[in-house]
Amino acid sequence: MPETFPEWWRDAAIYQVYPRSFADGTGDGIGDLGGLRARLPYLVELGVDALWINPWYPSPMADGGYDVADYRDIDPVFGTLAEAEKLIAEAHGLGLRIIIDVVPNHCSDQHAWFRRALREGPGSPFRDRFWFRPGRDGGPPNDWQSIFGGPAWTQVPDGEWYLHLFAPEQPDFNWSDPLVREEFLDILRFWFDRGADGIRIDSAAVLVKDPDAAPDGLDPYTDRDGVHEIYREWRRVADEYGGRALIGEIWLPDQDRFAAYLAPGELHTAFNFDFLSSPWEAPALRRTIEETLATHTPLNAPPTWVLSNHDVTRPPTRFGRADTGFSLAERNHGAPTDLALGTRRARAAALLAMALPGSVYVYQGEELGLEEVEDLPLDKLQDPIWRRSGHTDRGRDGCRVPLPWSGDEPPFGFGADSWLPQPAHWRTLTAEAQSDDPGSMLTLYRQALRLRRELPASFTWRATPDGVLAFDRGDTFTCVVNLGEHPYPVPAGETLLASGPLRNGELPPDTAIWLSSHGS
Ligand code: NOJ
Repeated sequence: MPETFPEWWRDAAIYQVYPRSFADGTGDGIGDLGGLRARLPYLVELGVDALWINPWYPSPMADGGYDVADYRDIDPVFGTLAEAEKLIAEAHGLGLRIIIDVVPNHCSDQHAWFRRALREGPGSPFRDRFWFRPGRDGGPPNDWQSIFGGPAWTQVPDGEWYLHLFAPEQPDFNWSDPLVREEFLDILRFWFDRGADGIRIDSAAVLVKDPDAAPDGLDPYTDRDGVHEIYREWRRVADEYGGRALIGEIWLPDQDRFAAYLAPGELHTAFNFDFLSSPWEAPALRRTIEETLATHTPLNAPPTWVLSNHDVTRPPTRFGRADTGFSLAERNHGAPTDLALGTRRARAAALLAMALPGSVYVYQGEELGLEEVEDLPLDKLQDPIWRRSGHTDRGRDGCRVPLPWSGDEPPFGFGADSWLPQPAHWRTLTAEAQSDDPGSMLTLYRQALRLRRELPASFTWRATPDGVLAFDRGDTFTCVVNLGEHPYPVPAGETLLASGPLRNGELPPDTAIWLSSHGS
């Protein structure tokens, strides 16, 4: 009999750890593995099942560690490989699974292969592992633009140009070189051998490209058909181990193209950015939930529900604005924000996301109700978007500010000065301040994460007026979210959890409730 493994990713609650900002064990103002290890009990108490850890590899940190210099080690600022192994073992001992972040589209310009490619010059086989080309008419080989702004090509002193879809410090690998493919299969094995339970695949849809091809009307590097063969190979490796999940970071508006990555023999799940980007409006949310279920159900792939991550505006800020949707291109930085309203909505959104069938992601600090920090001193900003946009887009640092753990003033449990300053008013949002407060965001997340473990599998909409979303899970559980302007009468059932107080037995606007509908 072949061994069977639990498909834990199907309904897991996955907590995203941005290690630089999670917890500081050494007291240097930067989060690290010691800090994370010390806080594992906090995560168990929170009620999550797995951790996704953003890149922790040696890196010059030109893009928060997404510029990897060595895929088989840990950056000294975070700790050591031995400590990462300890962390994995300790997490497993506490019943937490570990997902690591693998960055296959590009590495750091300090990666040994790229340094060698530069050193050896044109004609070196190491240049074939990247995209080196001669220029055209005195400029770059083509007109591709970097996702962080500016041209996607940089010229090196010998005259050739190399491709970087992101920052110049992040040269793109050439995935048509078999050595690149082999290298990454080996990197997967390296981490699976060390106990990693899953891999979050960075920029998963942009690996295949052909900068020499004449324009064919398709996007020149996003979602080219050839990318699927790569993931079929990866899946074969994951299956050799068993119980390991491949999770794609795939921003694609077309649901059919998105679904292709979840076909049998490819990735297990992918982030639901359509849900993450949805405005706080009942028809839009209903549409994205319906489309998500329609896309995933026939493939027997678990949907994922994501409200935030290290790249997007934090929910209390986003939901407190006139435009509640999210777009990578337009962050609306500094737009007028009603934080009290945004926080009410973020609480309701959390109950919505956690009531839906599939897996759910919680980005660190979401459970504390942290807002986007929009007034970081400009000289502290580290996101390459700030510089590459010609200082027009402040980028993503505002959602990466170190977590407030305890105490009455910054750095709230981070040592020294935290690498990004925290707002003084976070004294009311520290984990310590919220822990015993029944009305806090932290308590809401703890209660919801516990209850969601018991939810029946099936999902059925209830008929509701415009502005209200309601659905049942099995015949024992109902979730109602009021996104309208008027209070809505709470259906029959016992209240399990509500995101805010009821008013005269009615669910106020921007509030969600979970009901035990047993026998009602
Ligand atoms: C997506 C990651 O989430 C983001 O933080 C990073 O900048 C880009 N990929 C490039 O690696």
